[in-house]
Amino acid sequence: MRIGTSMLLAGAVAASLAGGAIAQTVKIGLINTYSGAMASNGDQIEKAVNLFMKSGQCKLPTGVNLEIIKRDDTGINPETAKRLAQELIVRDKVQIITGVVWTPNALSIAPLVTEAKVPFVIMNAGTAMITERSPYIARTSFTLWQSSYPMGTWSAKKFKTAYVAVADFGPGHDAQEAFTKAFTAAGGKVVGTVRMPPPTTDFAPFLQRVKDAKPDALFVFVPAGKNATALIKGFGELGLAQAGIKLIGPGDIVTDEELPNMGDVPIGVLTMFHYSAAGDRPANKSFVAAYQKEYGPKAWPNFISVGAWDAMQAICDVVAAQNGKVDPEKTMLLLRGWKNPNSPRGPIEIDPRTRDIVQNEYVRETRKVDGIVKNVELETIPMVKDPWKEFSQK
Ligand code: PHB
Repeated sequence: MRIGTSMLLAGAVAASLAGGAIAQTVKIGLINTYSGAMASNGDQIEKAVNLFMKSGQCKLPTGVNLEIIKRDDTGINPETAKRLAQELIVRDKVQIITGVVWTPNALSIAPLVTEAKVPFVIMNAGTAMITERSPYIARTSFTLWQSSYPMGTWSAKKFKTAYVAVADFGPGHDAQEAFTKAFTAAGGKVVGTVRMPPPTTDFAPFLQRVKDAKPDALFVFVPAGKNATALIKGFGELGLAQAGIKLIGPGDIVTDEELPNMGDVPIGVLTMFHYSAAGDRPANKSFVAAYQKEYGPKAWPNFISVGAWDAMQAICDVVAAQNGKVDPEKTMLLLRGWKNPNSPRGPIEIDPRTRDIVQNEYVRETRKVDGIVKNVELETIPMVKDPWKEFSQK
């Protein structure tokens, strides 16, 4: 029996060698938020990854496979994320780590991937400096500077004064700094700033302060998902729009999948962002159609889905280019300068210098079109590099 088995194996190896292909399974660790109050954001990643793998777009050489090992960080939990990354690296021996909705979690993983030399492709977390925490990090999502800095410049043409309200953690701090810098440089005045605890869904005390200050515009960043819906509901209930205050921000606050839960309140909100499910590019139309075919006509992909979709494309491309024998240095070299001219969000590339994403930003207005509330893209600011890195280089 034993001899028979090893002969069989030897035969199989010889046969596959003759065919030029050896079975090669590449292990990918996916750290995502599957449970807890913020799980709807993780669901966007889960749906996009599964759809991508099913779509046939992951073109690997014969015999090369991806094994995706999924782990739940349960929300903003840097300690949990760190432990999961440690286990994935040491026990499961993953060759690439990906996923990660939250900045604090990405930051806690960074030293581990540096030490173990494991490439880490970030699908969401958007604080600018994350990519500088490890040479093994590349990002396919966005930075808050990428949306909030051009929003500051653009909105100064429309509004004289603004109030700034942000969730009190990395991406909120970046949104605040970026918007304030650009808005004031373009002649606008920030009349007040408030930082709100990230898990809060009770925005009334903060919004009342804003209402009393009577700014022309309120710039807000809160995390996408249920948090954004709570913010929009609070904005509606306190009657800020009726008081003449325009709500503006990065697209996180009018996240596509939550629009059906926000009623008519977001109509008229102005945002800057790299992705809208309503984008009329052919690649986006087919992406949204495939998503709704798989998950139902009411399932809308948002920017987190697209960040994950493009991350999977990048991972498949670099694994294919190495024939499944993933070398960390080679992987990072391939990720630097990786491009997709046809992402659902438009053309994208990873800046070879910073390993961060370069992409279009779109000025959008939330409108009701044929009875459906959508983020309608109005203007394009082409191929924006993370402004924070551009400034710090100067
Ligand atoms: C982040 O933690 O970096 C983050 C989370 C949710 C967002 C944007 C950024 O909507």
